[in-house]
Amino acid sequence: MILITGGMGYIGSHTCVALAGAAHELLILDNLSNSRIDVVNRLETLCGKRPGFVEGDVRDPVVLGEIFERHPITTVMHFAGFKAVGESVERPLEYYDNNVNGTLQLLAAMRRASVRTFVFSSSATVYGDPASVPIRENSPRSATNPYGRSKLIIEDILADLHCAEPEWNIPRLRYFNPVGAHESGLIGEEPRGLPNNLMPFIGEVAIGKREFLNIWGADYPTHDGTGVRDYIHVTDLAEGHVAALNYLNQNGGLITINLGTGKGYSVLDMVQAFERTIHCPIPYEFGPRRAGDIAQCWADPSLAYELLGWKAQKGLEQMCSDTWRWQQQCRQLNI
Ligand code: NAD
Ligand code: UD1
Repeated sequence: MILITGGMGYIGSHTCVALAGAAHELLILDNLSNSRIDVVNRLETLCGKRPGFVEGDVRDPVVLGEIFERHPITTVMHFAGFKAVGESVERPLEYYDNNVNGTLQLLAAMRRASVRTFVFSSSATVYGDPASVPIRENSPRSATNPYGRSKLIIEDILADLHCAEPEWNIPRLRYFNPVGAHESGLIGEEPRGLPNNLMPFIGEVAIGKREFLNIWGADYPTHDGTGVRDYIHVTDLAEGHVAALNYLNQNGGLITINLGTGKGYSVLDMVQAFERTIHCPIPYEFGPRRAGDIAQCWADPSLAYELLGWKAQKGLEQMCSDTWRWQQQCRQLNI
């Protein structure tokens, strides 16, 4: 049985569907700080079986102790944490507590229960402002904000742990820019308030919730002056976790893997792709660069293919159409 912390959230919920499709038994631990209880009903529909769900906090050793005592957990996938860069600058202690302390509590509980397989949600943010693209896993790491630093710290904790106790199996998966939603329209990203990320914002402009998109910077050294990123469909990302588990069944150890497509698209590329999907213009205005933003970032995903046999399958068109279907669903659900 796999314990999925943060399994009610955006990436965790899609990963639950992929894991259920690969016949894994699931138990979700989530404190619902950034998700809604009814996700579990929608997961029941999509998984064909209701996943186990415990409402609780990864920092709570009592809850963790009970989970490991009552359930035959063999693997933990750790999605729970805070992820908003701007908020992390304003509330660093809360970010270090939830992300770093949460991970430490979880690892300690796993060790007490002799569970030694830990899949970690890292991020391309650990590459900071990359010196060159595409980015390989051995590129230099840096952090410019507490969120990114929390990911760096956890990556280092995991390396130290594996060095001291080599029996641990630890894939550190570095996600690029997850977008889109499940094609059923039943689950997707549910940003609270003003979205920080590009695709949810475009979706909200498309549906009329926002008047226009602010494009942060038109003077980057990229093909059209706007920032370039490696957008990856969230269900491809979810399948990457299944591939990582399959790899662990044959091999163990500490591995670090980029989960991206290897393709970079600019903000204007994304706007135009979305316009093609909805057959309507997306109003936008150019604004100044957003503090802390980088010009371009995309993965070299070849190690994921080499080790896991995984590569992203879905293109821009599907990322946009699934985002759009989910956006329309959100209006119906009043999210
Ligand atoms: P999300 O906010 O949608 O999901 C996180 C889930 O964890 C939520 O359901 C929330 O309620 C839960 N949670 C938070 N703190 C908790 C705690 N202390 N105890 C129990 N549950 C808790 O975020 P997401 O986009 O699904 O991201 C999942 C992971 O992937 C995070 O660690 C994030 O940093 C990482 N990541 C995300 C992105 C991205 O763009 N979404 C990119 C790279 C890495
Ligand atoms: C953000 C996070 C990063 C995280 C990543 C994936 C910041 C500073 N960085 O990065 O840590 O790993 O998400 O979750 O928040 N854009 C606009 N207008 C908008 C929103 C975005 O022009 O309203 C542009 C940005 O300037 C950027 C691109 O769109 O060029 C993508 O932005 P976003 O979706 O926020 O992702 P990242 O900047 O890669």
